[in-house]
Amino acid sequence: MKNLYERIRLFLTFIINEFWLLSVNCLQFGDTGKGKFVDLLARLANIIVRCTGGDNAGHTVICKGQEKVFHLIPSGIIHDVDGKINIIATGAVIYPKTLIDEVKTLQASGIPCKNLRISLKAKLIMPYHIVLDRISEAKAGSSKIGTTGKGIGPTYEYHVARRGLIMNDLLNPEVFKRKLKKAVEHAKKVLASYDPSLVKEIMVHEHLEFGAYYQEQNLFDLDAIAEKYLAYGDFLSPYILDTDKFLQESVGKKRILLEGAQGYLLSVDNGTYPYVTSSDCSHTGLLKGAGLENYQVDAAFGIIKGFYMTRVGGGPFPTEMGGEESDKWCNGGVATRQLELEKYPNADINDEDPMNQGVALRRVANEYGATTGRPRRTGWLDLPLLRYSLRSGANEIIMTKLDVLTGIEKIKICYAYEYQPATLYPVYQFGNKLLSSGVILYEAIIDPEVLQYCKPLYREFPGWTEDISKVRDVKSLPQNLIDILKYIFWENNLNCNLRIISVGPAPDDTIFVGDDEI
Ligand code: IMP
Repeated sequence: MKNLYERIRLFLTFIINEFWLLSVNCLQFGDTGKGKFVDLLARLANIIVRCTGGDNAGHTVICKGQEKVFHLIPSGIIHDVDGKINIIATGAVIYPKTLIDEVKTLQASGIPCKNLRISLKAKLIMPYHIVLDRISEAKAGSSKIGTTGKGIGPTYEYHVARRGLIMNDLLNPEVFKRKLKKAVEHAKKVLASYDPSLVKEIMVHEHLEFGAYYQEQNLFDLDAIAEKYLAYGDFLSPYILDTDKFLQESVGKKRILLEGAQGYLLSVDNGTYPYVTSSDCSHTGLLKGAGLENYQVDAAFGIIKGFYMTRVGGGPFPTEMGGEESDKWCNGGVATRQLELEKYPNADINDEDPMNQGVALRRVANEYGATTGRPRRTGWLDLPLLRYSLRSGANEIIMTKLDVLTGIEKIKICYAYEYQPATLYPVYQFGNKLLSSGVILYEAIIDPEVLQYCKPLYREFPGWTEDISKVRDVKSLPQNLIDILKYIFWENNLNCNLRIISVGPAPDDTIFVGDDEI
């Protein structure tokens, strides 16, 4: 057997150019295990780029046998060798404290981070963004999005409204202070409509450094914010530069890997809006975030989980195991792994009760948020959503976590929906389409007004019991598993290529799929 490095290199020969631009992006609701593949492909890349989002993301990478969770820094940083550059690009939003903590943690574990670069145009997450995010969620009642509370939405909002601050402002104290003053005036006006004691409670909490930015009279202590942020700027200044220009100049001369965050179905432009994050985390959004163009890409990888899906936070999820009960439990704000063990002690992966089965799957697959610790809602693979996601152009498919399903007796794949609207709204106009009860949909209509009323139609398959974690080629997989792959990728005529199958968390637990194998 060739070593891993050789296997990846051979695999990538389907890309004809010596210097390539690749993107790796999740086609579902995030958390599909991008970290492992960014890590794999990063071994051959010269430049690895985190393009969008902020510390709402979290990716786990196994590094020298140890699990490492990153929120902002590209997971390629663990290959921090000379000449391999890791970039946080223009499309990202940065809470400098998180970034500096990550750099210091990495440095303490022997990764110097000297090849880190940060776009001078990346957006700064400011303390008032965190307050605005948390307070609007606290007051949203049943319409809450279930954000990570990291200030992501308000930071993008301020950017679009032309009152945002960027990384480069950290290098220019007077500009920073002028922009800060103006932005805070706006934030204070918005916050004046909320209960002051709730605002204070959020501001003195640990997530805002225990009140470091709070001032009884003016709400925000401008001097304290400026002092802290400018000190952050001093630390980060060696890393800040015009990464758009650097990347544009590198296309065709270097091997570049764009790393996605979140997933297509959470993209502000393409996802289940408003139950989305605030960045465009589509494949096109990644390119834009890096300052590049669609036509420059050599291959776009789209990641899906093997035969199941997860979602964190609110929003429609047609194949969710346990439906509303699961949604309420996972999003109720109290559920933790420990409480779940106490509440569902006997949950079994083959349970007839879908709620119990979903809990058991979550446990087996360790589906608890890397950033928030929240239980992720679990459900079966949804082909109508996948057909929709494949429109994004990320059609070189990576399928992850297949080993998790070993031992499940019955695998269900959702191949279509039956639209069953509430009797109160029996028909729904979607552009020039009139949807009425009983309509069968093979491709998802991403509007939550429709999606929440879609009943999944399933095809069932027998599972497998063999350990697949040591399998390294498709033909050695259990026949039952191959049959399901053939059903998905052949019978459903999806316009994509299955390229990689992950059968375990370690880098080597990977099957590279040959052109005619599925
Ligand atoms: P925000 O990005 O914190 O504003 O949260 C908006 C929505 O995106 C919420 O439903 C979050 O749970 C979801 N979300 C944000 N980041 C991630 C991620 O990395 N994985 C999965 N869901 C995420």
